Amino acid sequence: MKKIFAGNWKLNKNPSETRRFLHQLKSHEAQLDAELIVFPPATSWEASGSALLDSKITWGAQNVCSQGSGAFTGENSGVVLKDLGGKFVLVGHSERRHLFGESDTLLADKVAFVQALDLTPVLCVGETLPQREAQQTNEINRTQLQLGLAKADRTKRLIVAYEPVWAIGTGKVATEQQVLQAHDFVATFLQELGFSNAALLYGGSVKPDNSASLLKIPHVDGFLIGGASLDVETFVKIIRGH
Ligand code: PGA
Repeated sequence: MKKIFAGNWKLNKNPSETRRFLHQLKSHEAQLDAELIVFPPATSWEASGSALLDSKITWGAQNVCSQGSGAFTGENSGVVLKDLGGKFVLVGHSERRHLFGESDTLLADKVAFVQALDLTPVLCVGETLPQREAQQTNEINRTQLQLGLAKADRTKRLIVAYEPVWAIGTGKVATEQQVLQAHDFVATFLQELGFSNAALLYGGSVKPDNSASLLKIPHVDGFLIGGASLDVETFVKIIRGH
């Protein structure tokens, strides 16, 4: 399996910045032997779709509604995403869980809806610092996976991202030992649940200077990268480093 490098832009990059970034990234494409995904904000979906028409680089949404259309003011539609050429959806990123109060039950509906559209969900799981300090890391990962995948289709593609909340945007990357233990636990539990083909990404302060060693850890199939994915050269340096 090719390693996966996914860039989560969060609320950054307008359509013209998106086009500029993607044209620059495409100029490196031929030398990069990996699966590349970018997650632009919804206002840049259309720019991403047209910039990547002639490319193997794929893109997706940071979040979609659990319904395709209807009376859901302010939401974004997976049906529209698909129409524009998007292929992936982040589900349950820690910012959605903690800043916007998304529950595991809602996330289970989103996973099922995204798969029903033949798009690939990237379910994000991970513990907060107090939960890690209380030695609840495995329990949190187990609960978030069990509930988030309760309605998932085992015959369709699934990506899971383990992102310890305390490592996101903080510069505090998890140690190799912490990543090893968490990925081993998550991979084993995914197997028990019947999702043995799911790819497993690590996310949380991945940078060019820590990416190569993290990628050597068993069950690390790639990264979900926030801050370091906003600059093309930094993103490419991480991809080249493997
Ligand atoms: P970070 O973000 O790389 O900036 O820590 C990761 C993420 O939010 O997915």
